[in-house]
Amino acid sequence: MAIDLKARLGFDTPIFAFSHCRDVVVEVTKAGGFGVFGAVMYSPEQLEQELSWIDQHVDGKPYGVDMLIPAKYDKEAEESDQPLMDMIPQTHRDFTSHILDEAGIPPLPQDQQEELRRRITAREKNVTPVGAMKLVEVALRHPQIKMFVSALGPMPNELVEELHSRDIIVGALCGSARHVKHHRAVGTDVLIAQGAEAGGHTGTISTMVLVPEVVDAANGEMAVLAAGGISRGSQIVAAQAMGAAGIWTGTIWLGTVESELSPFEKEVLFGSSGEDAVQRKVLSGKSVRMLRSKFSEAWEAPDAPPYLPPPLQGILFLEARARIDRAQRGDYYSSPAGQVIEGMTEQTTVREVIYRLNSEYADALSLVCGLAD
Ligand SMILES: Cc1cc2nc3c(=O)[nH]c(=O)nc-3n(C[C@H](O)[C@H](O)[C@H](O)COP(=O)(O)O)c2cc1C
Repeated sequence: MAIDLKARLGFDTPIFAFSHCRDVVVEVTKAGGFGVFGAVMYSPEQLEQELSWIDQHVDGKPYGVDMLIPAKYDKEAEESDQPLMDMIPQTHRDFTSHILDEAGIPPLPQDQQEELRRRITAREKNVTPVGAMKLVEVALRHPQIKMFVSALGPMPNELVEELHSRDIIVGALCGSARHVKHHRAVGTDVLIAQGAEAGGHTGTISTMVLVPEVVDAANGEMAVLAAGGISRGSQIVAAQAMGAAGIWTGTIWLGTVESELSPFEKEVLFGSSGEDAVQRKVLSGKSVRMLRSKFSEAWEAPDAPPYLPPPLQGILFLEARARIDRAQRGDYYSSPAGQVIEGMTEQTTVREVIYRLNSEYADALSLVCGLAD
């Protein structure tokens, strides 16, 4: 029997919001939704600070945390004692530098380069199993966290047992109904059926096709949330009609006042169309839906070196992004974003987004009920 998410997590409206930004997580949760904090961008020390801040500001409400715990990983990267940055082949570094030099995007000044190196080194192993477990240890010190989610495959069995013993709900992103059996086997409670429209790492099956397939495969034993391409209240009704318990969203929060994106980044987002949100491997070595730019497209050219495996490609990307951001070059800027950016044209607060979704939901529901008369 699937768990009752509303009863266990205490939200008013079944809107789950994934964000790397603590303010978004807090505001969504206070506005009646359920915020889930993306931990992967933080070192264990920073994560401790971010979670403590959320604890203090979320009015005692429960919230969630999301980690990238990979089922498969680069063994060499995991076991190496040397900084992973130093494992990036010179050919790849030269290729990146060439793209940016040609565009007139200057290298970082020495002090900023060193600071970036320190930051990357502090978190570069977050997406290896051992590194991810360090983040898990930090999160377990925060009892207001009532949901743990992992992307990139099922969580290890022992971790699921540990979380269940603490009354924490276990969720997993799922891009194919064929993967449901693996999540069932480890004891996952909630499947986040994430379609290809979504920002971030995605599969190829669209949300409209995927959600009912995952609902069928879950067979009433696990709750399902619909994710990918959702930015309207009418889609909550659609998700529920397909058997989902609610929605899981990411891109819509990027353009909010509370989002940590800089004014430069928001401007690029608001100027982009849904067709600019494409699937590319340049960001992590795996397929990510992200904004297309001159930088991402240069990596697709026939003369480009092959993408590196995670986490090395991701480190190379972060270094390039620091240069692009500093030069404020929107034509070279790429960042994870889903197809719903089409409808995002100006900043709104998190509360306004939740209010709009709820009111559209009510309208759509009465429309559907009217049709049934
Ligand atoms: C900027 C960005 C970063 C993301 N990073 C992660 C992540 O670290 N872990 C994760 O499980 N999902 C991540 N996702 C995917 C979201 O959890 C979510 O499934 C997705 O955004 C839903 O589709 P939507 O973008 O159309 O709303 C990310 C999405 C975006 C937009």
